[in-house]
Amino acid sequence: MQKRIAIIGAGPSGMAQLRAFETAKEQGRSIPEIVCFEKQDDWGGQWNFNWRTGTDAHGEPVHSSMYRNLWSNGPKEALEFSEYTFDEHFGRPISSYPPRAVLWDYISGRAEQSDVKKYVRFSTVVRWVQFNEDTQTFTVTVEDLARHTTESSEFDHVIVGSGHFSFPNVPDFAGIETFPGALRHAHDFRGAESLADKDVLLIGASYSAEDIGVQAYKMGARSVTLSYRSKPMGFDWPEDITEVPLVERFDGSTAHFVDGSSKRFDAVILCTGYLHHYPFLPSELSLSSPNNLYPDTLYRGVVSEANNKLFYLGAQDQWFTFNMFDAQAWYVRDVILGEQTLPDAAAQRADIDSWLERLAALDSASAEITFQADYIRDLIEASDYPLFDLDEVVRIFLAWKKDKQRNILTYRDAVYPSVMTGTMGAAHHTPWLQELDDSLERYMAHPKTDVIKVIVDGSREASAV
Ligand SMILES: Cc1cc2nc3c(=O)[nH]c(=O)nc-3n(C[C@H](O)[C@H](O)[C@H](O)COP(=O)(O)OP(=O)(O)OC[C@H]3O[C@@H](n4cnc5c(N)ncnc54)[C@H](O)[C@@H]3O)c2cc1C
Ligand SMILES: NC(=O)c1ccc[n+]([C@@H]2O[C@H](COP(=O)([O-])OP(=O)(O)OC[C@H]3O[C@@H](n4cnc5c(N)ncnc54)[C@H](OP(=O)(O)O)[C@@H]3O)[C@@H](O)[C@H]2O)c1
Repeated sequence: MQKRIAIIGAGPSGMAQLRAFETAKEQGRSIPEIVCFEKQDDWGGQWNFNWRTGTDAHGEPVHSSMYRNLWSNGPKEALEFSEYTFDEHFGRPISSYPPRAVLWDYISGRAEQSDVKKYVRFSTVVRWVQFNEDTQTFTVTVEDLARHTTESSEFDHVIVGSGHFSFPNVPDFAGIETFPGALRHAHDFRGAESLADKDVLLIGASYSAEDIGVQAYKMGARSVTLSYRSKPMGFDWPEDITEVPLVERFDGSTAHFVDGSSKRFDAVILCTGYLHHYPFLPSELSLSSPNNLYPDTLYRGVVSEANNKLFYLGAQDQWFTFNMFDAQAWYVRDVILGEQTLPDAAAQRADIDSWLERLAALDSASAEITFQADYIRDLIEASDYPLFDLDEVVRIFLAWKKDKQRNILTYRDAVYPSVMTGTMGAAHHTPWLQELDDSLERYMAHPKTDVIKVIVDGSREASAV
């Protein structure tokens, strides 16, 4: 009998899984019956911007944590699909740090090309997944949010692609309930315009704090204060952005920090990360992990050790994104098609342990990036996903990091060559700090005028095209 598989979520991970199966079908391989459940009314996951906060039109938790003014924070050359390039999609070179809508267009274009929408049931939320020992199948219970109907059906495999940057981690701080200004988690941040002329406090020292801090600066905040728990980000910040240690307590509008300093604020944004949270899974199948590069209990980062018929995509902390999801999806597909054999439980554990041992020894960003590149290479070598030059992507990441150290306000103006096609990125017509229109139309409207060539060691030369 034909197998049935359920994919939970049509974000970049779920879309990669659909593409992986459709590619096999085009090659004449027999694929299972696929149903992808997506609770939103469109695909793209985080990239499907939602102006709402809290709950959506159906009363479901809003999924996307992205904001209106979000631009890619890493070079697009590091996330490019190896079998659907930016050149193929846009037909001309574009810059290396596109805004959200442009990246949504890219992932959407690939999925449209392989005609996989037919597998997706939109506005359908997965409520519960139950494994049945006797039949060795999963009962998946879903609710069609538009029609208000609940139904259950049986699947041989479940692939979780629901993301892990949607359920905010919200720590408590003494006295925070007395803060009278605007107070929210980064998940609910939608744009920095209202922070103009305000003194803003961001708690956290990772990408959300960095980028929302810079957005606030761009939109004219009076001051931006970044409060870290472990260590400061250490960029060469402009005068109006400062880093301080952790908040000890709030007293009304005033935050007191552990170094004894204090300051009055108009707005506070908790940039304190997200939780792995899978409310549709029983605890024994639900991944429980900090946000790290190799969550424990996943063989090859995707196969649930608790039940080898259950898979997770994109559960890692992410230097690499779209092409890592592809590597995972192609491998998972081949396991499901029976073209990859899983080793026994002891060998799976030994393999996980060897990666965890390596993870524990990582002591720099460059070591982390190389670790994730090695993980991806290991997966790609097991499938027919086109292998690309992962060492070159690592070099691009390192150049990106240098660019950020050089100037955190202008790093998005640099461009890099595509690892897939060699095409050099074209500088955006307007420096990022001056660009206030983040739309696809504005981005694509003006042809490129010149190209800044960035050699991956970080040196540059300008040249006309
Ligand atoms: C603020 C922010 C900015 C980011 N910026 C970048 C960036 O610049 N570059 C980059 O490469 N990456 C960035 N990322 C990382 C981003 O997470 C990945 O690019 C990518 O979106 C992950 O894809 P995913 O499919 O695994 O998860 P998601 O994109 O989170 O998609 C998961 C999907 O599952 C659906 N879903 C969830 N639960 C259910 C359910 N119960 N039933 C049915 N459907 C469900 C959701 O609606 C969603 O569509 C950013 C993340 C955040 C939070
Ligand atoms: N495109 C963009 O521009 C953009 C913008 C924002 C986010 N993103 C993406 O979004 C994802 C999530 O990033 P993120 O920054 O939200 O999460 P994150 O990378 O997981 O970082 C969480 C931060 O919160 C801090 N933290 C956690 N608990 C805390 C507590 N109790 N008190 C104080 N600090 C605490 C952590 O500090 P410690 O270091 O001490 O643990 C860490 O600095 C990433 O993939 C990122 O790339 C992208």
